[in-house]
Amino acid sequence: MARLVIVSNRVASPRERAAKAGGLAVALREALGTHGGLWFGWSGETQVNPPDTPKVFRSGRVTYALLTLDPDDQRAHYAGYANGSLWPLCHYRLGALSFRRAEWEGYRRVNEHFARALFPMLRPDDIVWVHDYHFIPLAAELRKLGFGGRIGYFHHIPWPTPEVFLSLPSHAALVNDLSHYDLVGLQTEQDVRALLTYISSEARGWIAPGGVVGLRERRFRIAAFPIGIDADAFVTDAQASVGSEEEQRLAASLGGRQLAVGVDRLDYSKGLPSKLAAFGELLNRYPEHRSKVTMMQIAPVSRGEVAEYRALRRELEELAGAINGEYAEFDWVPLRYLNRPFQRATLAAIYRNARLGLVTPLRDGMNLVAKEYVAAQNPDDPGVLILSRFAGAADELSGAVLVNPYDVEGMAEAAHAALSMPIEERRERWQANWEKVRTNTIHRWCETFIHELVNAVDQFDGPS
Ligand code: G6P
Repeated sequence: MARLVIVSNRVASPRERAAKAGGLAVALREALGTHGGLWFGWSGETQVNPPDTPKVFRSGRVTYALLTLDPDDQRAHYAGYANGSLWPLCHYRLGALSFRRAEWEGYRRVNEHFARALFPMLRPDDIVWVHDYHFIPLAAELRKLGFGGRIGYFHHIPWPTPEVFLSLPSHAALVNDLSHYDLVGLQTEQDVRALLTYISSEARGWIAPGGVVGLRERRFRIAAFPIGIDADAFVTDAQASVGSEEEQRLAASLGGRQLAVGVDRLDYSKGLPSKLAAFGELLNRYPEHRSKVTMMQIAPVSRGEVAEYRALRRELEELAGAINGEYAEFDWVPLRYLNRPFQRATLAAIYRNARLGLVTPLRDGMNLVAKEYVAAQNPDDPGVLILSRFAGAADELSGAVLVNPYDVEGMAEAAHAALSMPIEERRERWQANWEKVRTNTIHRWCETFIHELVNAVDQFDGPS
């Protein structure tokens, strides 16, 4: 069987047990665990004049190859173009979009450096699977060096509509880069429509049935592959947490109150200020919940080198302080706000004990926390998922209470309704969600993408 080669900026090291909430690296670790193969990524280190050879080591069935980057290039690539241009663009935040040619050039240099280091390690029949917006030009660079094998790309974040995408000065070059893949995977059908519309209307490409696309002399396919979680592992962790010391400490600290939980990287796409404000509004509008419901927001700090993230952190600290200052009692703190990541087992225990799961991003590719929350529930007495209609997961999780994250009062009303929801309705809604989470797992996602990548080229006939 052909070898699988995964490329991503972040690599979850085999020793790293503390899983950040959701996230790409955790999902890939699950996927590679079953398949085995080579995982190529950034070492997390920088050095002037870095070597073109990665550090290689093996753990179980996975070989890791980690490359060190030049500090200026790394800044231009990661904090600059990837997280200062592409991230806000793809999350529809044009106000936060910055574009500098030097950063775009640094982004391309890092992709060239990655290609130069990876190419000598590749065998002709390898299946190369590139992950996320840090490496869109990688296939084009590998092709220049002569790699003719299969290369797929998966975009973990949303793909914006053409009106938004056109704001990026380098939009044409980026889509041209995509055309060097054989298969481009996106999270939802809406993302696929957005990219196909750009290709037919702006890039003057053609589109054939099944998402086969022709752009200049290149043929490739674009399709939706909604990502999932390792549902069984989550259920096992959640069940194992029953009666554990951590669960007992949690229960003792709650003193019989209901728990509402949110777990998000501290990112402006996650809608955290509106979520906290909605909790404040719940307590304001429906005083019966005061001293009865505690909210826990876990928000591990992220991308501190980008100014927007530092500003957001300050804003949240102020907001959390204001809510607690306004509503706390001498024996009750309404909001627990935590900035550190937790292990999956601890998260599973918290999710299982939470009557509400609050997942309210302004935009999100999929959001795996929504799926983890569902998997961790007790089927006899499940909690309610309150989910933003702008998360990719909203397409699948029909049992969630969908909200508009820009509507703070609407979210407060939804939380109030969910807190008083009868058990039959909670079970029905959970069952519908669980059916999707249980069947569309990370393993199925991985197998489906690889299968389609292997078969993609056979479909490149041309427009009918
Ligand atoms: C999202 C992105 C990933 C990224 C992760 C954490 O899930 O899709 O590519 O790795 O956020 O962000 P960070 O910038 O810390 O890698």
